[in-house]
Amino acid sequence: MRIDLLIHSAAQLVTCAGPVGPKRGPAMCDLGIIEDGAIAIGDGVIVALGSSDELRRTYDARRAIDAAGKLVCPGFVDPHTHLVYAGDRVAEWEMKLCGANYLDILTAGGGILSTMRATREAPPEQLVAQAHRRLDALTRRGVTTCEIKTGYGLSVAAELKMLRVIAALAQTHACDVLPTLLAAHAVPPEFASNPDGYIDLIVDEIIPKAAAWFQSITHHQSPMFVDVFCEKGAFDVDQSRRVLMAGKQFGLLPKIHADQFNALGGVPMALELGAVSCDHLDVTMAEDRARLARSNAIAVLLPAVNFHLGSTHFADARALIDAGCAVALATDHNPGSAPCLSPTIVMAIACRYQKLTPAEALNAFTINAAHALAIGDRVGSLEADKQADVLIVGAPDYRHLAYQFGVNLVEMVIKRGEIV
Ligand code: NIG
Ligand code: FE
Repeated sequence: MRIDLLIHSAAQLVTCAGPVGPKRGPAMCDLGIIEDGAIAIGDGVIVALGSSDELRRTYDARRAIDAAGKLVCPGFVDPHTHLVYAGDRVAEWEMKLCGANYLDILTAGGGILSTMRATREAPPEQLVAQAHRRLDALTRRGVTTCEIKTGYGLSVAAELKMLRVIAALAQTHACDVLPTLLAAHAVPPEFASNPDGYIDLIVDEIIPKAAAWFQSITHHQSPMFVDVFCEKGAFDVDQSRRVLMAGKQFGLLPKIHADQFNALGGVPMALELGAVSCDHLDVTMAEDRARLARSNAIAVLLPAVNFHLGSTHFADARALIDAGCAVALATDHNPGSAPCLSPTIVMAIACRYQKLTPAEALNAFTINAAHALAIGDRVGSLEADKQADVLIVGAPDYRHLAYQFGVNLVEMVIKRGEIV
């Protein structure tokens, strides 16, 4: 049979395949490794996987890649980023090094609000160009699917501008891009004395307009999400519920930033609404870990944030996995809490400080991350009929991905069967 591409002789072909659905609890260690493995690709889709001998006999490939001595694995899925913004927060970072606190800076009108001011002023072409370069950096490091949030506009016009920037990236970049409306990221200055008025604006105007815009541009199966920063100094549980419920009514899938600094009750609320993921979870209590384990939601952990904020406290990934949760990892790239463009640095931190095994960290950045975006049936693992998003890595063993750090081991990125 004729195919477009055969990658063969891989020291390890890590499939991350398994039963349908995310991997939870002990299954997070299963990588589905084929030694001396090969993968056959046609029309951008995976045709077959198996031993190099067998596939070389079966398929007649237009192009073959010898992956001897190398690791072949699924493209990484980054399920939580704030990639579109103007300016930086380098001065604020220096203040934090001298003792200032993330939430205090936000309360004083800095933090997210300083990025909001820069992003409102920036022309969309500039936002696209800057985010395009960031997405290039992520893709070179193995990311083949990326979620991107709004949340630095915080007005009807500026949130829609951010969505259009995200759509422009989706159209022009090889990486698949999925949008999330995070209008409820912070209370904008116009509503400082009336935060509920801002929630009214989100519910009555921003969500309906954003959903209508998404309908008008989309013909594909990919979802759009609605998210909220449920935290002291941002939005309380009732306000967060109003936002997620309104989003849900318009077909957006709920996500939440919860329990980053304070456990306000955002997790049970979001789970009641059928959230696809709960993100951060740095201070989540045992009973909410148990609730997460019983739900379909993915626990998305963002340890680059703790690292960047200089904290030695991390989300209790071991307790989450041992409770039976499906854990994913993300960069959370943003200018304030995680100016990070490396999925493998996140894995490296997760292994060392959260005691994930290297296998758990890889599943967390592939198949479980795909489920955090509700597209685990299409990407995140190497299985027949799935999208051919594949990495060739310059190491013979998957553990090198998290073992080595400060180096990009990704040698080749294949997106829908094409070399990027
Ligand atoms: O996921 N915590 C809230 N939102 C982002 C940070 C955004 C920012 O500081 O600009 C996060 O960490
Ligand atoms: Fe975030």
